[in-house]
Amino acid sequence: MKIEIVTTQNINLNETGFGALKACNRVFDSIEKMGYDVKLNICKSKRDLDSIVKKNPDLVVLAVKYISLPNGNNVWLSEYFSRHGINFTGSSRDVLRFDSNKISAKLYLSNKGIKTARYFTAIPEQYRCAGELPIKFPLFLKPTDAANGNGIDDFSFVTNFSEFESKVLSLYNKFRAPVLAEEYLDGREFTVSIINKPNNELIISPIEIVPPESKNGLRILGKKAKIDNCEELKSINDDEIKSKVINLAINVFLTLGVRDFGRIDIKANTAGECFFIEANLVPGMTYGSSYFPKSCEIECALTYDEVIQLMLESALSRTKPKTPPNNYINADY
Ligand SMILES: Nc1ncnc2c1ncn2[C@@H]1O[C@H](COP(=O)(O)OP(=O)(O)O)[C@@H](O)[C@H]1O
Ligand SMILES: [Mg+2]
Repeated sequence: MKIEIVTTQNINLNETGFGALKACNRVFDSIEKMGYDVKLNICKSKRDLDSIVKKNPDLVVLAVKYISLPNGNNVWLSEYFSRHGINFTGSSRDVLRFDSNKISAKLYLSNKGIKTARYFTAIPEQYRCAGELPIKFPLFLKPTDAANGNGIDDFSFVTNFSEFESKVLSLYNKFRAPVLAEEYLDGREFTVSIINKPNNELIISPIEIVPPESKNGLRILGKKAKIDNCEELKSINDDEIKSKVINLAINVFLTLGVRDFGRIDIKANTAGECFFIEANLVPGMTYGSSYFPKSCEIECALTYDEVIQLMLESALSRTKPKTPPNNYINADY
C-alpha cells in the first residue's frame, strides 16, 4: 500500500490545512508507524503533482486544499487527484468551498434551517452611517476566506460606526475582499471534531474553548491567542449544551456533505443558543496544540496516532484493487 502526503510551502497561505512542515512530518510518522510505505511531498508546481500521479499511489493524503502556482493560479488538489482517478483523503472540491468561503457555508446552511449568526458584507465607504447598517451593533468583523485567526483581533468587535469603518478598511486592505460582518455572539465557544468511519459511524469529539481574556474583557480566538497557545481547551460540563453542540455539529457535517473528517466551530449567545461559525475540513494537525487531535484526546481519550489512523480509515477502505496484468483480464475461461 503506497501513500503520498501532499503539502506545499504554506507559509503565505491564509488557509494552512494540517499546518507547517512540522505537523506534516508528525502525520508522516504516524502513517509510517501504521506500517505503510509513505512519502511526504512538498509540491510547488503541476510537475510535482504529475510525478505523484505517475507513481499511482493507493492513497493521497491532502494536507492542504490547494497549491498556488507561480503564475498566481491555484490548483485544487481534490479536483486534480479525482480527475486522475486517484483516491484522496477528505472532502471533494465542491464541499471544500464551504471551508474556504464562510459566506457560502452560512448561506447553504441557513437555507436548510441551520442556525448561523446573522450577517452582511461590507467594503470601505459602502455605508455612510450606523443607521444604514443591516444589523445593529455590536458586530463582529472578520475576513470571508481566511483561517487560523488571520485578521481577527479585539478590533473585530465593534460597537460604533467609526470602529466599524476602521476595521472594515484594515481587513479590506489586507484581504482585498468584502468583509464579513456578523452579529456579535456573546456566549461560550465550542469546536467539534468529527471522523466518519467506513461503516458511517461518527466519532464525535466536542470541546469548549476558552480564549484568554484581553485588556477590555473580550474573549476572542484571534491570531495572537492561537499563536501563543494560551486558550484553554476543556470538556463540556453541561449535558444540555453539550447535546445541542453535538447535534448542531452533526447536522452541519451531514448537510454540507463532508467526507472522512472535519471540525465544526460553534458559538453560543448568552441565552445558550448555539450557532454555526465555520467548517474546517482540512483541520490543523499540529501535535500537542491543534484542536482536532486535542479534542479527540480530551473527549475520546484517543492518542495522536490513533486519530490519524481513524482519519485514514474511510479513505483506505476506498482503495481500489490494482488492475491485474492484461492476460488475466483477457483470459477467456
Ligand atoms: N459572530 C461572532 N461573534 C463573536 N465572536 C466571533 C464571531 N465570529 C467569530 N468569532 C470569534 O473569532 C474567532 C475566529 O473566527 P472564525 O470564523 O472561526 O475564524 P478562523 O477561521 O480564523 O478560525 C472565533 O473562534 C471566535 O472567538
Ligand atoms: Mg475558527
